[in-house]
Amino acid sequence: MANVTVTIDGQKISVPKDLSILEAAKLLDIEIPALCYDPNLEVVGACRLCIVEIEGSKKLETSCSTKVKEGMNIFTESEKVVRIRKGIIQLLLDSHPNDCLTCQKAGECYLQKYAYEYNLNFRKHNSAMRPQLIDTSSPYILKDDSKCILCGKCVRTCAQVSDRKVLSFSDRGYDTKIICDEDKNLEESSCVSCNRCVSVCPVGALIDKRQINKLRSWEGNSLTVNCKSCQYGCEFEIKSKNNKNVAVVAKSPSNGRPLCLKGRLTTELLYVDNPETPYSKIDGKFVETSWTEALNIEDVLEKINKLNADKSSLGDD
Ligand code: SF4
Ligand code: SF4
Ligand code: SF4
Ligand code: FES
Repeated sequence: MANVTVTIDGQKISVPKDLSILEAAKLLDIEIPALCYDPNLEVVGACRLCIVEIEGSKKLETSCSTKVKEGMNIFTESEKVVRIRKGIIQLLLDSHPNDCLTCQKAGECYLQKYAYEYNLNFRKHNSAMRPQLIDTSSPYILKDDSKCILCGKCVRTCAQVSDRKVLSFSDRGYDTKIICDEDKNLEESSCVSCNRCVSVCPVGALIDKRQINKLRSWEGNSLTVNCKSCQYGCEFEIKSKNNKNVAVVAKSPSNGRPLCLKGRLTTELLYVDNPETPYSKIDGKFVETSWTEALNIEDVLEKINKLNADKSSLGDD
């Protein structure tokens, strides 16, 4: 791949010509704020937070969807860029609940991070807030539409697995929201609780319910492990606090990894000190279940028990 030379914030770099400006900036350790971009997902250029100024161009360009070109002189924090970027973040804050104190996402939320970086606050205003539509129907996922910033990452990642495609955008303008199937709750929908959507959501609109109240993002330690349930080896983070493993969190499904509930529950059983009861969805309803049923290993256990019984009866002879 041929290279091109560009200048970003005064630093010259030679990069492959198929890179986006955002990717090229990353090579210089310049992090351009981005809410809808994810290296594993189709680029949609929806949030416009990643805008940059390019010398000679009147229009600001979204750096996630604009490729580098020979000789480009790019400014990621020019006065114009910062003014418009701050406006975008402020608009998001203005339609967002002021809930960072108790939000499980605090500390890892990108809206919170950028508001801090650009010194912006929740403020009193007369415009409408997003309605609080909280879906608590799933024991695995909490979906809070009032915190959704409509980046669409959940929709794109869910659709990457062909038999899922549960999520989509519904309605228009201010009423736009993310729905499951034809606007069902998570329990009634075809969601398989894989938590792909949770792993990519940049804010607290999709939360791993089994992590809630166990620890804040900055507490304790975390260890990345690979799932042992199948050849994909999806990645999970084991969260520990006070020398106890308290939660398992699905990591972003990179490298074509599917993520699934069985893999996540197996990882919980293997690593978490006091794993919570598992649930299975039966006829559109979540029901508490045993670990053997949840992991679908009843046959295997039966066989092992039979082999053990056979062995001990041979020993008796
Ligand atoms: S989603 Fe982010 S900005 Fe919103 S309440 Fe939670 S931590 Fe705060
Ligand atoms: S948990 Fe998985 S199947 Fe359910 S909505 Fe999220 S990505 Fe789709
Ligand atoms: S739920 Fe999260 S990932 Fe999905 S559109 Fe809203 S903010 Fe983005
Ligand atoms: S990150 Fe580029 S438009 Fe959202």
